[in-house]
Amino acid sequence: MYAERVLQKGLRTQVFGNKIYTFDTIDSTNNCAKAVADIGASEGTVVIAEEQTAGRGRLGRPWFSPPSQNLTFSIVLRPQLNNEVLNLLPLYTAVAVAEAIERTTSLKVECKWPNDLLINKKKVGGILIEGSFKNGKIEYAVIGVGINVNLDVFPPDLSEKASSLRIELNAEVDRARLFQEILRSLERHYRRTLKKGFQSVVPEWITHSSMLGKTITVSQHGNALSGIVKGLSQDGGLLLQTNGTVMTLFAGDISVLES
Ligand code: BTN
Repeated sequence: MYAERVLQKGLRTQVFGNKIYTFDTIDSTNNCAKAVADIGASEGTVVIAEEQTAGRGRLGRPWFSPPSQNLTFSIVLRPQLNNEVLNLLPLYTAVAVAEAIERTTSLKVECKWPNDLLINKKKVGGILIEGSFKNGKIEYAVIGVGINVNLDVFPPDLSEKASSLRIELNAEVDRARLFQEILRSLERHYRRTLKKGFQSVVPEWITHSSMLGKTITVSQHGNALSGIVKGLSQDGGLLLQTNGTVMTLFAGDISVLES
């Protein structure tokens, strides 16, 4: 079981994690983080749980969150920024979390647009951003992070496409240490990104991704569109070339056809 005291010991951050709500079981750390943000939780407040009974992913999908094996947590951010950066938040998070995993395990992590973290082409982590907005500004954003850390058996529907750090590393990973490294990386990137402008996450994300130049298929509302990835727009959209025209996509499920 997580204890706030243990997670904070050795946490080398200034603001992120100053308050950590820990749970054995919760429906979703994002739900709880939104609830505490609604009543004024300060920037950097974290909600972490050993198990989620209704963990959520993008597009309303469930996020598999069995007890005591993975990392599932959410953090409250209050950037004084317009809604326009919303699509850049998953990219910022992906880069910061990828670097923390790489530093902790030496595994190479790849970012897959928009919210996925892959190792050896299998998904080991996902990011779910939710928020509250007022007059075109972000009142708060909740950054939900799920990482398959020490899970070694996946349900049949996930086993083909998902993996964990433990499987890829062939060794158990210290979850508290990884959590601390992620929080530190998130804070460092957040400060730097706020200073340099949120668009600066785009080139950083591209260096962590191998999607550029690949032929992919994007499924959106039951329709499939194939094209070549040309890059990312300044507001975090995926630039896809189809039949000579480049379009910008902001949502969808990607499958990579060509490597
Ligand atoms: C995805 O890949 O679709 C995103 C998955 C995000 C899962 C995390 S686990 C912590 C936080 N709480 C949730 O209910 N979801 C996010």
